[in-house]
Amino acid sequence: MISYADRLGKLPPYVFADLERLQLDLARRGVDVISLGIGDPDLLPPRIITESLTDALNERDINNYPSSAGEEYFRKAVAEWYKKRFDVTLDPEREVCALVGSKEGLANVGRLILNPGDKALVPDPAYPVYAQGATILSDAIPTVFPLNAEDDFQPDFSKITVAERTKLLFLNYPNNPTGAVATERTIEAAVDFCNNHGLVLCYDNAYSEVSFDSYRPPSPLQIDGATSCTIEINSCSKMFNMTGYRIGFAVGHEKIITGMKKVKAQVDSGIPKFIQKAASTALGHYFDDELSKELRENHREVKERLDILVNGLRKIGLTATPPKATFYLWVNVGMDGAQFVKQLLKVGVVATPGSAFGKNGTNYVRFSVTQPTDKISKAVERIEKIELKQTA
Ligand SMILES: Cc1ncc(COP(=O)(O)O)c(C=O)c1O
Repeated sequence: MISYADRLGKLPPYVFADLERLQLDLARRGVDVISLGIGDPDLLPPRIITESLTDALNERDINNYPSSAGEEYFRKAVAEWYKKRFDVTLDPEREVCALVGSKEGLANVGRLILNPGDKALVPDPAYPVYAQGATILSDAIPTVFPLNAEDDFQPDFSKITVAERTKLLFLNYPNNPTGAVATERTIEAAVDFCNNHGLVLCYDNAYSEVSFDSYRPPSPLQIDGATSCTIEINSCSKMFNMTGYRIGFAVGHEKIITGMKKVKAQVDSGIPKFIQKAASTALGHYFDDELSKELRENHREVKERLDILVNGLRKIGLTATPPKATFYLWVNVGMDGAQFVKQLLKVGVVATPGSAFGKNGTNYVRFSVTQPTDKISKAVERIEKIELKQTA
């Protein structure tokens, strides 16, 4: 008789199960479904990355085990990118660690910092891995704090109680699912809060490079005092449309990074060297005219899609505001988001109910504009139909 460890039973039910079943059923009946559900970019990685990858495949020793902490050239590429992008100086040996995507890093921060029964402060709504993969799977307890629309989805630290055995605070800007960006005040307050309460700040900056117009998201490491408490997690996934390559990086406090390397040495054997080569090439050429032009063009397209969706949703009476960063639109639908999503599915559009990100998301739906512009327009035409049905 096989029985799972108790911690698996503590994971909340899989919110997407019902929807997945419904979606499969529609596909079986031949309904053409437009998915605005998962945050996986349809756009391709820039050519310089795929070329670097194929070149690397022919190199000697490329087939061997990589270092789980990251090859030296990759850690150096990350440190150089941080210097140019944020004017933050990092020691590639002691303050940078490669990750198998940021999700792995976030989950392993839990293993590194939390003892069984410890607590982690987690925003609501949030990317579910903070509460689940990082905290519950470390036999620790998530304590949620709200991100409210009236505060532009910024935390109010004066209202957060730090219970005994709280060790870790997760924060994520540009934010999934709300699309909110951090104010300078939020990052300063987060750093002060963590330093004052002896917490580790795990700052998820996975969307730092998906921003529009002149807005450039910051790094918390730019703030005085941040290095004494912070691990910042980032990734090539959304930066370069490399989600399937699985490569990210953690930077920050030397002791935290050293600990991450220790955990990782027991868990993974590193990211394939050809992937690390491709990612190093991308980071190394990030500020070159050609690559930055290509990335800007991608962002222009994402912005256009967001605007099409915003206008469509406004036409059916919903309030929608285009975000300054991320490819998500977080919309208060004025009813249970899961019910709204079921109606969307019936007209062939998939979106994510806000409750998938926490109780505070109950009346929301998250749309991810990871489909070509013409499909977004088609999705909007379909969405307009459900409103007609509702008012009929
Ligand atoms: C906020 C946030 N952090 C981290 C991740 C994980 O990304 P990856 O593991 O591909 O770097 C995601 C993925 O959607 C995300 O939305």
